[in-house]
Amino acid sequence: MSLKKQALDILALNDRGTYTIPTQGLYPHQWNWDSVFIALGIATYDSDRAWTEILSLLEGQWPDGMIPSIIFRSDEPGYFPGPDRWGDTPGAIASTGVSQPPVLATIVRQLTVGDQQRRKDVFDQMFAWHAWFHDKRGIDGLITNVHPWETGRDNCPEWDIGLDRMDVAPDLAPYTRQDNKHSDPRFRPTELQYDKYISIVQFGESIGWDQRRLTDEGPFLMGDPNLHFILLRANRDLLAMAKDIGKPPTVIAQIEAWIEAGLKAADRLWNPELEAFTAIDVRSGTFSPGFSNCSGLCFYADAGSVEQRSKTLAHLDRINADVNYMLPSWDPNDDAFEPQRYWCGPLWAQMNYLTSMGLREQGYAAHAMELRCGLIDAIEKSGFWECFDPMTGEGCVSRNFSWTAAIWLAWDNETQQQGAA
Ligand code: DGY
Repeated sequence: MSLKKQALDILALNDRGTYTIPTQGLYPHQWNWDSVFIALGIATYDSDRAWTEILSLLEGQWPDGMIPSIIFRSDEPGYFPGPDRWGDTPGAIASTGVSQPPVLATIVRQLTVGDQQRRKDVFDQMFAWHAWFHDKRGIDGLITNVHPWETGRDNCPEWDIGLDRMDVAPDLAPYTRQDNKHSDPRFRPTELQYDKYISIVQFGESIGWDQRRLTDEGPFLMGDPNLHFILLRANRDLLAMAKDIGKPPTVIAQIEAWIEAGLKAADRLWNPELEAFTAIDVRSGTFSPGFSNCSGLCFYADAGSVEQRSKTLAHLDRINADVNYMLPSWDPNDDAFEPQRYWCGPLWAQMNYLTSMGLREQGYAAHAMELRCGLIDAIEKSGFWECFDPMTGEGCVSRNFSWTAAIWLAWDNETQQQGAA
């Protein structure tokens, strides 16, 4: 069967009418950034259904503007922690109490070229979400995260510094993991990491999901290049849409101020020893020790000095020489590199998509192509997995994964259009 047919079948298999699950079994609800990438793929053959995916995600928005990482749309018991563990959340639909990387405005801009009405329909909700990030997670312009799940890069070794500084809650209520029933445990986070993930959830629930308190007083707080650069880029796209649909000068000025603050604060993520953008434990000032697959998002955000960008390219070249399939989620030079364990090494479709998009836009077509080929080659070898071993291209964690299929379709569509032009 052709790859295109396989990708279309996966999106049909995971379609739940108005939203699409990432994969059956492991992730049976609506995930935030998954839905946005999925919309990008669906848009290649059904723009109305793609738009429904975006609108259904927005239905989960909280009154304070946050769009949560997971919207629990069914009683599906096979996922932990489900709605009972997150407790009372203020959105119209039960959800988690943390957010996820805001790729929404960037993809919405692509999906609505020439369609001002759709832009108008969703602009205020996107603006409110960006404002939420700046108000609730911002520290002097730096966008932080209160839970590794909020970064979308759950067990990346970037978070070890922050997790090592926190204790498992002494009164942690007993729980049973479900993820390891759906996938090989050697691919997934450890028991201790899970205890800490659930301890943070318990803390958030205990303070009624007061989001600023969660940032200021919660057990975990790190600055994250993924959230920071993705929001900075999303603000640029929000600004372009604000101008396109004639938003008032106050709105334009607010977004410009966010961009300026984001550009300035990016320097706080520059690890001078590694000479790369990495996560930082905000309270201790300690940097994460390795280059991850969001270190290169400075291009996507159009941030960083000439020197920072050239050092980043040198890291990409170094890593390219060490692996067979770009771009690993963790630095192969670091002891914590594990090529098959979730965010400790495997390459991920959405990160290759974003990083290669930035590289191409900034004029580094060859580097962009390495990332594109890395993912496409892994898909050709193994199929549409959640992530892939960067040494062998073998698929890891879950198969029939929606965003892998969606991104393949988006790239395939782009190639067809270029061929037709
Ligand atoms: C999980 O449960 O593994 C998810 O990544 C959390 O969003």
